[in-house]
Parts: sequence; structure tokens; C-alpha cells
Amino acid sequence: MSVPQVLLTAALPAEQRTRLAAVASVTAWQEVHDPSPADLIEIVPEMDGLLTVLSDPVDASVIAAARRLRVVANRAVGYDNVDVGALTARRVPLGNTPGVLTEATADLTMALILAVARRIVATATAARAGEWQSTWDRTSPYGFALTEPGIELHGQTLGIVGLGRIGTAVAARATGFGMRVVAFSPREVSGVERVTLDDLLRSCDVVSLNVPLSETTRHLIGARELALMRRDAILVNTARGDVVDQDALVDALRSGQLAGAGLDVTTPEPLPAEHPLLGFPQCVVLPHIGSVTFRARQRMAELAVDTLLAGLAGQPLPHCVNPEVYQT
Ligand code: DGY
Repeated sequence: MSVPQVLLTAALPAEQRTRLAAVASVTAWQEVHDPSPADLIEIVPEMDGLLTVLSDPVDASVIAAARRLRVVANRAVGYDNVDVGALTARRVPLGNTPGVLTEATADLTMALILAVARRIVATATAARAGEWQSTWDRTSPYGFALTEPGIELHGQTLGIVGLGRIGTAVAARATGFGMRVVAFSPREVSGVERVTLDDLLRSCDVVSLNVPLSETTRHLIGARELALMRRDAILVNTARGDVVDQDALVDALRSGQLAGAGLDVTTPEPLPAEHPLLGFPQCVVLPHIGSVTFRARQRMAELAVDTLLAGLAGQPLPHCVNPEVYQT
């Protein structure tokens, strides 16, 4: 049998690249920018496997061009960059990397909640710019010079939208902070009361979005939902930018309908420097770093290579998104 051909769209740690090169001939996307569908269409016709990242557009046109394709390993837990239906129609399995980035993303969710609640970025930026705002402003009755004091998490209610692995890990952390946790989710987790989305939005001090992006969750939080939220509430999104109608979020922050937002994900990514979300002091925007820890990225690379090797060998993938491809 001929040596399988695989496309690697982003560099791998040397150890994982060696594992892959031991069984396959590896073509690497060498550019720093993301490949377009047209770029991929040129490369994929000879490929048996693709090892992709979340900004690679593996759409129906790319899948149609990849006539030899046997497996796609997406180095992310999310796979909204892949047309799963088109892969399934071709009976090509898609693997993702759940579990290994859960703790890193849950940590980052808490970091964003704290950053917004305690005005960490605005105050640190002021201190760095030489505008130190004294811990005790003697002219102010409560002793702070900042326009907005921080919010304590203890005793507050956190509403989690989506109790999957990451949402559940966020719930555990929030409980440790003394927060009450409620959730909107089909899944039950002990100690977390399930409520409707509207009730969650109306009642929570902090709302954390932890759902995958799908046609059901696209713009799940729009103008109507933001209007239901309390004016002193915070919205945190570490899922995907499109779960929120971003224009509606800008309006809500501008009008004071919402106290603050913490976003690790936006539409598009990167967010243009002149985007209004980057101008609100009460909004913290991060460049999608949920899984950016050494440990998570190392394990994601390892699991993605496990996935690709399993697919090339005709074995079941460690985590298959479309297991119906195996049905006879
Ligand atoms: C994923 O893997 O889907 C995450 O968004 C990465 O941070």
C-alpha cells in the first residue's frame, strides 16, 4: 500500500510530527495566515488525512476536492469550521480534542469573570500609564477614585449556558468562589439547578456562555436576551463569537444595559483594532486564548495525531464527532 499523504495546516511539536512522519508523508501549510478554501482546494486532492485547526475552513468545496480523504483531525474541541454533514455524506470520520483543554478554558473563564468584575484591565492599564488611582481616595466616601467599584463574586449567582465538560468545570470553580450556580442545559449536573434561558438571564449576576456553535446556538444571545439581563450583570463568552449577536452586545454596553463583558471569542478573529468592543473600559477582549497553556496545547497535539493515525489505520477515532460514518 502507498504511503498515506497528510496535510498539516499548523506546526506540531517535534515529537508529534515525528510520530506522524513515521507513517505518512507530511505536507505542511507554510504560511502564517489562515488558508482560504481556494488554498486548501489546491492542496487536498492528494490527501488521505487532514490535521486542521479551528480557523481552517474545511467546507463542502474543500471536502469535495479531497477525493482520497479518509480522516480529518481538528485540533480543537469545537468543529464549527468543518462541514460535518459533507464529511458524513462521504463517510469520512471527523475527530476533535475534547477533555484536554477543559481545565485551561475553565480557568480562563474564571479569569475573565474576575477581570471584568474587579476592573482588572482598566485599573492595571491606568497604573501602567502613570495614572495610579489610589487605593484610598480621601475625597470619596467609599475611598475609591475609580468611577466604578468592583463586584464581589461570593454570594452572587452564575448562570452557565451549556453544561458540557467546560461548563461543568466552570461550575466547580464558581462553587469554590462561593457563588450559587444555575444552568441552561439539557444535561444534569448535581448541585446545579437547571432553569430556562430567560430565567437565567433575568436572575444571574454573571452569565457564562459554554455552548458549542451550531445553527441552534448562533446568536443565541441577541438584543432580546441582552435586554432580559440585569443592568448590573456581566456576560462572559469563551465559546464562539457567533453565539452572541455582537452588534447587539455593542449596543447593550454603549447604553449601559449591561455592566460589562468578557470575551475570549469574537467575530471575526482577530477583531479589527478599531472595533467598538475594544474601546469599552468595562469590556475585556482576549485573542482566543482559552486553550493556550503549554499543557493543553501539548495534549491537543498528541490527541490530534492519535486521531489522524487511527483514521489512517481504519480504526475508530478516540473522539469521533460523526460516529454514524461507522454504521453499516
Ligand atoms: C477549541 O478547542 O475549540 C477552543 O476554542 C480552543 O481555544
